Order: sequence, then structure tokens, then C-alpha cells
Amino acid sequence: MTRASIIGKPVPRHDALGKVTGAARYPADLVRPDMLHLKVVFAGRPSARIRSIDASEALAAPGVVAVLTAADVPYNAFGLIERDQPVLCSDVVRFQGDKVALVVAESAEAATIGARRVRVDYDDLPGVFDPFAALEPGAPLVHAARGTNLLHRLPIRKGDVAAGFAAADLVLEGEFTTTWQEHAFLQPEAGVAWVDDDGRVVVESAGQWLHEDRKQIANMLELAPDRVVIRYAAIGGAFGGREDLSVQHLLALAAWKLRRPVAIVWSREESIVGHHKRHPMTVRCRWGATNEGRLTAVAAEVTADGGAYASTSEEVTKVATLFATGCYAVDNVAIEGRVAYTNNVPAGAFRGFGAPQAHFASEVMMTRLAHGLGLDPVEFRRRNIYREGDREPTRNVLPAGVSALPVLNRCAEEVARRGWAEEAARANIEGPSWLRRGVGIAAGHKNLGYSFGFAEQSTATIELWGRGEPEGALLRSGAADVGQGVHLAMRQIAAETLGLDLQQVALIADDSAETPNAGSSSASRQTVMSGRAVHDAAVEALAKYHGSDEERVVATVQYCPPATTPLAADTGEGVPNYCYGYAAQGVEVEVDTLSGKVRVIRVASAHDVGRAINMQQVEGQIEGCVAQAIGYALMEDLKTRDGRILTSGFSTYLLPTALDAPEEIVPIVLELADPLGPFGARGVAELPLVPFTAAVAAAIHDAVGVWLTDQPFTPERVLAALEG
Ligand code: MOS
Repeated sequence: MTRASIIGKPVPRHDALGKVTGAARYPADLVRPDMLHLKVVFAGRPSARIRSIDASEALAAPGVVAVLTAADVPYNAFGLIERDQPVLCSDVVRFQGDKVALVVAESAEAATIGARRVRVDYDDLPGVFDPFAALEPGAPLVHAARGTNLLHRLPIRKGDVAAGFAAADLVLEGEFTTTWQEHAFLQPEAGVAWVDDDGRVVVESAGQWLHEDRKQIANMLELAPDRVVIRYAAIGGAFGGREDLSVQHLLALAAWKLRRPVAIVWSREESIVGHHKRHPMTVRCRWGATNEGRLTAVAAEVTADGGAYASTSEEVTKVATLFATGCYAVDNVAIEGRVAYTNNVPAGAFRGFGAPQAHFASEVMMTRLAHGLGLDPVEFRRRNIYREGDREPTRNVLPAGVSALPVLNRCAEEVARRGWAEEAARANIEGPSWLRRGVGIAAGHKNLGYSFGFAEQSTATIELWGRGEPEGALLRSGAADVGQGVHLAMRQIAAETLGLDLQQVALIADDSAETPNAGSSSASRQTVMSGRAVHDAAVEALAKYHGSDEERVVATVQYCPPATTPLAADTGEGVPNYCYGYAAQGVEVEVDTLSGKVRVIRVASAHDVGRAINMQQVEGQIEGCVAQAIGYALMEDLKTRDGRILTSGFSTYLLPTALDAPEEIVPIVLELADPLGPFGARGVAELPLVPFTAAVAAAIHDAVGVWLTDQPFTPERVLAALEG
């Protein structure tokens, strides 16, 4: 075939023009004839018993059509992993963002006025706002029926840690804390729902997994799944923040009950109060190494604040526990992971899914050990970093395709070649005495795809037609394009495999009734999983086409990667993952020692993506994720007091702006083929967030000689560290 390959090419995004001109329809832009408007009555308090709900005044307000409460919900419990969350609360409320009633009105204004007139009479109850306090005997119980606030616990044991520490020449201890992170996607939660002519409830919104949203909503309404249709409009970012239902089920309930279209648009404040956050975690750890620079033992305790409902806490905590040794081979390991219910905002999925918290601790410990042993931090990492055939703390051999070392080497070479350390040293001599520069490096890894035995698959369908030669194809996949560009990547993979031009491959996605289940757009998995399903379906469609006289053939393929397993309850033994992405980052910072403000000047972000399906999108993922990582490392500081979020707007919850962007982001893309991914591709989306906080901490230490161990590194904390 003479056709030029389109794999790796920076093919422009078909959705880009609409997004930059404003023509794209996001969920808040959707309008249905005769539609009603929904307003949520939030609890507004972290822990209370509901004595009564009086909707009479609200119902008397002009334009109010209905007030829905728990009694209107057919099956009043939902959740991604565990159904522990009421759709609408009837007896107790467990966090500020719990929902108590829904007011539906002819206009958004009338719904807002109606919501203010719903009288809820509460008895406030004692609450618990810290996971350590929550695990003390006698703590108020968030879910009384469970008898404990322990949401999940996972020990991982390997080898003999006592012997490992005895064999060490240097043992260091550390304690690290992280706080919540808000997803802050551009587009707050919104959508519209209606009952169609076939009697199906249709929800058009934004999410990360059509078929999971459908399942949860069908459960709630006690309907067969095919009576619920989920459609996604343009999705304005997700980052894990749309894994849980937020407004989709509320819209479905109201439309189903009232038989009229219903719309909702959350304000930024409702979004911040109403959806889950990244988990705050505390990592207490002890690391041992020999003078030759070999790790001998790691002991760690990982404690997470899960907030009021389970969400994905169990899985996130498992990931953080597994990654407590970073990306290093250690023979002797004792890790204890646990997550507690509290009356805080629920914590759940957020880009990195427990890995950023764990790697903050592990990577700072690695640099401290290197300093203590008198070794170069990169060289010390090289001696211990995962290699093909190494075993994880869970005792299994790592999935094939371990590229941690080449990624680290490429990153270190690039930072050296560009002379960042020399530049920092020069600036420190020539520049003002209060501005200090430093350079830091860190490495990390993250599972691609679902872990710990969670059923993993993606299914794709390809219809192929032509007279004599293939002339066109229609691809169907449920993979959500949350902004990362998976729809274009899948079309590129299909076109390449079928030998067609990109324009000859059409895609149907974004509708649960028209597409097969692709799993979620999460865990950096879609390029590997759905890309592979598309590839395999294309291969099969082509074989069918050439093997018959038909002018039109259809192939449906379900791709299942090698199975993972649950971890043994007492030792953590098992096969946690089938694929990893590896990353390393070098960072140059400038610390203003008078104000405590840290500026990230340069970032080198190295990733093994196996094969870049679209280089522009890979670089876009790296740059976007680095921006989010800068916010996480330096400024995003969700403040709460007794369960109430104090920073419910972007005037107080500070995100990085263009002025905080580094002078230079250098994406370093390695293409060391993964054995599973289509054309060798593996995922990248979460990786730049994984080592970043530790790399910044190391750069700050290089600049001013102090370690920051509480994320984020706000000016106040930096100043306190400099003064302490
Ligand atoms: Mo994600 S945090 O795997 O959506």
C-alpha cells in the first residue's frame, strides 16, 4: 500500500473549530421545547438528622411545578463501587453537598426562588472531619449501620521488613500530607432529560462512561437498562470529576416523574460543593538503603479521607497503597492503606487516582536518601528503578514493557543537555539575593486501565463497505471524548488499519443506545483499550470483507486485556494491573524567599507512550496536565471548616493562570512499544501529575535547602519552612 501512515500524525481535531468558536454544544447549551428547570436543595450542613421537609411554600411560589423528595425516588441508593449514597436524603445528611429536595419550575429563576422556600427542619449531629479522628473508638459514625468509619483497609506485605531495615546503612522517616483538589473543569455540571416517544428516559449531559451512567440511572428508576438512554454533548473536561453521577440521575428522576423535559445548569459554587474531590492523604513512611545505594525496606502507612460516601475511595486507596514504594523494586515491604468515612465532601477519582499522593512521598524519600548516602539522586534511582521481570509489592512480576529506566534516563539527559542546573546556579550568583533557583527531578508510574480484578473490556463495532475495495467505514464506540481527543485517535486507528483516509471513517459515539460499551474514559485507558478494540474490529471487518462477496460487512470485537486479580486481604498478594505508563520530570523553580512564592520556570516531562497515535494530542495532554500539576503542587488549596467548604469559587480556590505557566514545557515522548496497545500505544493522560509535586519539592530543596512535605506549597508554607 502506498498510502502514507496517519499514525503519529498531528491530524487536526474535528471538534476543535466548534470549541474555539463557541459553536460546539455543551450540556448547558441544550434546549428542549417546553422544558422545565431544576434546582437542588442542598443540605448546607455536614451532619444532621432531618426532622421534616415542608414544601408547601415552595409549591405555592409562581412557576414551581413540583418538589421532589426521597419518597419520589424508586430506588434511593447509588454509587460507582458501592451504593451507599442516597439520591435524596430522608433521615440524615452526611455532608454539606447532600441533596434533600429537587425543585422543578417553569424557569430557572422560579426554581431558585422555590428552592429557597423549601423548609427543612434539622437536628444537627456531631460530625467527624478528619480520617484519624474518624478511626478513633467512639467517633461519631458517618454511616451508623456500618458500625465503623473504616471504609476500606489494605495491607501489603512482602519479604521481611525488620530484616530489611537491619540490613540498611541509612534509614529515614517521613510524613507527608496532601489536601483535596477540585477538578475545576471549564464546564460545570449541566444537562437535560426527557421521556422520548418510545417511553425511554433520555439524559443528555456530560460524563465519562455512557453505559455506567445508564446502569446507575436504570437502577434508580427500577427500569431495564435499555429504557434509559445516555447521550453526551461536548464535554468540557472531566479529569475523574465526572465519574460519579452529579446531576444526570436528578434530571432523569424529574423527567421520568413529570413527563416533561427538565434542564439544570450548576453554578461554579454548586459544582465545587456538589461533586467529589481528590483524596487528602497522609503518608507516614520509613525507607532503608545500603551505602551501595540499594533499597532494603519500605514501611508505610497511607491514610485517606474518603468523605461522606464511598465513591471510588476503595480503588484510589489501593492504588496509593500499591505505589507507596514508588516505581522501585524493594524486597521487603510493609504497607498499610486505609480510608475513612468523614463528614467532608466525598473524595473520588481525579487524574492520577491516588498515584500523585503516593509518589509525592516516595520520590521525596528517594531524593532524601540519595543525599544522605552521598549519591546523585538520578543515579540512586537508576540502581533501584523497576526493570523488566521485577516484582511489585504485591509479589507479581510487573506487566511486560517496563520502561521506567529509559524514561528516567531520557529526562535526566534532556535536563543536563539544556543546562538547567548551570543556568540556575548562574542566576543564583547574578540575580537578586532573595530569589533562589533550583532544579529537581522525580519519576513515577501509573496503571493504565482498571485494576484489582475489576472487569476490564472495551467493545467496538465497525461496518465496512465498498465495491471491490473498501470505500468507507462506520465505527461505533461508547468511548467518551472528555476533551482528550480519543474520538480522533480511534478514527486514525480505524483508518490506518482499514487502509482508508480519515474522512472515509465516520464515528458514532456519545449515545448509549447506538454504541457498544467502551468502559470509562479514565485511568489513561482509552487509547489502549478502545484503540485496541477498534484496531481488532477493523482487522476482523477487513478479513470478513475480503473473505466474502458482500459489499457491506459488520464486525464487533470485545477486547479484554490479561486479567488482574483482587489482592489477598492479609498480604495484598495478587496481580494488580495489566499495564503501566512510566514518567519522569525535571523542574526548575525560583523561590522568592521574601514572599515565599514559588515560580515553576521550566518543566521537562518525559513519557513512554508506546506509540503516539497523534503527537499533537500527546503533547497537548502533557502540557495540560503539567498546568494542572502546577496548580496541585503550588496553589490549589481547598479550605474547609467543620465540613464546610470555604473556597467555593475561583476567587478563593486559586487555579494557575497564564501568568503561572512556565517559560518552557518540554514534552519528551518515548515510543517503546507496549505489547498490548494498538500500534504499541499506551496511555499518558494522568502521568504528568504523578511525579510532579515531588519534582517541585526537590527543586525547592535544591534552591533553598528546605523540604516541603505538606501539599500545596503555598507562600505561607514556604515562608514557614524557611523560618523553621
Ligand atoms: Mo480518572 S481519575 O481515572 O477519571
